[in-house]
Amino acid sequence: MPHLFDELELRDTTLRNRIAVSPMCQYSCDDMDGLATDWHKVHLGSRATGGAGLIISEATAVEPRGRISPQDLGIWSAEHADALADTTAFIKKHGAVPAIQLAHAGRKASTYRPGDRDDRTTVADEDGWTPVGPTEEPYPYEQPLDTHKLTTEEVEEVVESFREGAEHALDAGFEAAEVHAAHGYLLHEFYSPLTNTRDDKYGGDFEGRTRLVREVTRAVREVWPDDKPVFVRLSATDWMGDENWTVEDTARLAPLLAADGADMLDISGGANHPDQEIPHTGPHYQVPYAETVREALDDTDCTVGAVGAINTAEGADALVRNERADLVLQARQSLYDPNFPLHAAEELGVEPPVPRQYYRGF
Ligand SMILES: Cc1cc2nc3c(=O)[nH]c(=O)nc-3n(C[C@H](O)[C@H](O)[C@H](O)COP(=O)(O)O)c2cc1C
Repeated sequence: MPHLFDELELRDTTLRNRIAVSPMCQYSCDDMDGLATDWHKVHLGSRATGGAGLIISEATAVEPRGRISPQDLGIWSAEHADALADTTAFIKKHGAVPAIQLAHAGRKASTYRPGDRDDRTTVADEDGWTPVGPTEEPYPYEQPLDTHKLTTEEVEEVVESFREGAEHALDAGFEAAEVHAAHGYLLHEFYSPLTNTRDDKYGGDFEGRTRLVREVTRAVREVWPDDKPVFVRLSATDWMGDENWTVEDTARLAPLLAADGADMLDISGGANHPDQEIPHTGPHYQVPYAETVREALDDTDCTVGAVGAINTAEGADALVRNERADLVLQARQSLYDPNFPLHAAEELGVEPPVPRQYYRGF
């Protein structure tokens, strides 16, 4: 029976345990240039000393207009890679595996960061830009920006931006790359019939709509070394009824992404439309989706990560033991307690991976 503190092998990369820090935007690039700052090193680094097995960076944009907010991280040049190199080195020195979330915000780009305004309004002044999407339909913010519909050639260029972003990420020292295809951002906007009504090769039926996420996954896989893993984060459902993207669609897509080279599918949900109806948001609310996807991957080597209010040691361990997921990801709990893995190990009677500098506290 696997245990939360068992290692997990993903290609030739070994996670020391099954706890991952879920990607979390920090909105902390001081000069709105996408370059990592001390904040990113301290934030991600302290989660490595906190004992997690896998640390995934925030949504890191593969091109400037793919940032959600002007202060988001980017990975569109060698300079961006250099700015992250210290962070990945620190994470590895402390026994965790650094992963980058390669992202494009699509039509949800150019918004103020949380806390700058009372609600999530779009940036229409000189710090903002025109978002892009599968159609001209903007995300229905209170003050939506005009949205540019990507041409077929421009969609192909997006694939190349992800490929180049992955190359820079590798230079930055990341061991794993996660394609962000969830939460209503560009790749999700393309695979969901709610947001994709195109009639070119990137639209139409299931095959057309999922073409972009599959091409991006393959492009990243092509440049990512064979011994290192690639992940894809999906929204399992739009939470917008049976006519839109559903968990059945995700279960159909999962083995295709495994064939494209994904080693872990990180199963999240929703955020493609403000009218979504989430059935419940209590503990482990998205785990049933991860479980469904895991069943769909039975004939593959691809693993599954579960995320969403997985906040206790016992609960996380039970998910792994009962083989409902291969690993768990935590976001808000990790903000609350960066040392959660150390505390969880103690609670579960396992030797916590305490850094020697901190022995006296344990
Ligand atoms: C501050 C914050 C920032 C987030 N930024 C991202 C992000 O950059 N990429 C992403 O895929 N999800 C992002 N999320 C979603 C989390 O990764 C996670 O899926 C979600 O919060 C549910 O997990 P939790 O219940 O453990 O918080 C963010 C969540 C929080 C709280």
